[in-house]
Amino acid sequence: MKIAIVGAAGRMGRMLEAIAPGMGFEVVARIDVAPGFNSGWGEDAEGVVDFSFHAAVPAMVAKAAEAGLPYVLGTTGLSPEEQKAVDEAAKKIPVVQSGNYSLGVNLLQVLTERAAAALGEAYDVEICETHHRHKKDAPSGTALMLAKAAAAGLGRNFEEDAVYGRHGETGERPHGQIAIHSLRGGSVVGDHTVMFMGELERIELTHRAQSREAFAAGALAAVKWAKGRSAGRYTMRSVLGF
Ligand SMILES: NC(=O)c1ccc[n+]([C@@H]2O[C@H](COP(=O)([O-])OP(=O)(O)OC[C@H]3O[C@@H](n4cnc5c(N)ncnc54)[C@H](O)[C@@H]3O)[C@@H](O)[C@H]2O)c1
Repeated sequence: MKIAIVGAAGRMGRMLEAIAPGMGFEVVARIDVAPGFNSGWGEDAEGVVDFSFHAAVPAMVAKAAEAGLPYVLGTTGLSPEEQKAVDEAAKKIPVVQSGNYSLGVNLLQVLTERAAAALGEAYDVEICETHHRHKKDAPSGTALMLAKAAAAGLGRNFEEDAVYGRHGETGERPHGQIAIHSLRGGSVVGDHTVMFMGELERIELTHRAQSREAFAAGALAAVKWAKGRSAGRYTMRSVLGF
């Protein structure tokens, strides 16, 4: 399958390029604002994989919709306006969008929802994510996925119950709150821990990505899966079948 990579000069773009041939893909366009890269793709591309920057997404996804190409979106930190552009494009093309393309994190999402449903509000949910010092957005898209899974398990409204870090005189922690904490440093690829803290015991579910290849391989599997599907928004869980 012939693909275009958006954000081709970046950490994820370079990983996609490195593993694509071994997975049966040919990279026909390398889109990036860095010197020496392309600004668009030609007619031979059969799908687009985007790991770039949130501001780049609306124009790229609209171009893919015009060309009728499946779009795999890994870029995180989209504003509500930018997200609207993605939703608009998904009326014309299949768009797979996930804050994390690894098998492990998608399984962790399922486990988080189940654990939250089983434990209920007697267990306080706190999520801790750690990433390398170059990451530009916080919290991570993965932490948001996991927080939404916990909210779904608890039957709560994520928008109302989410808290991002704490500082100053915060008062007592209310039940039902879902807190996310972001750590940045060094070269950490991506660690996420979901904690369920009760009066007598504590459960911690942790995923640690050891290589960006886990995300790149998942994204390539997703673009192959999306080819020929009807228009709509899909997640990595749709691709994995759970
Ligand atoms: N969903 C996942 O599984 C997953 C995994 C890792 C990273 N990410 C996300 O993917 C994105 C990229 O991550 P990264 O670590 O590769 O970042 P990076 O900074 O190394 O690479 C981003 C690339 O995008 C390019 N870029 C910026 N603006 C552009 C534009 N307007 N048009 C084209 N290219 C543009 C940059 O020049 C850079 O080369 C981030 O949003 C990150 O959070 C998602």
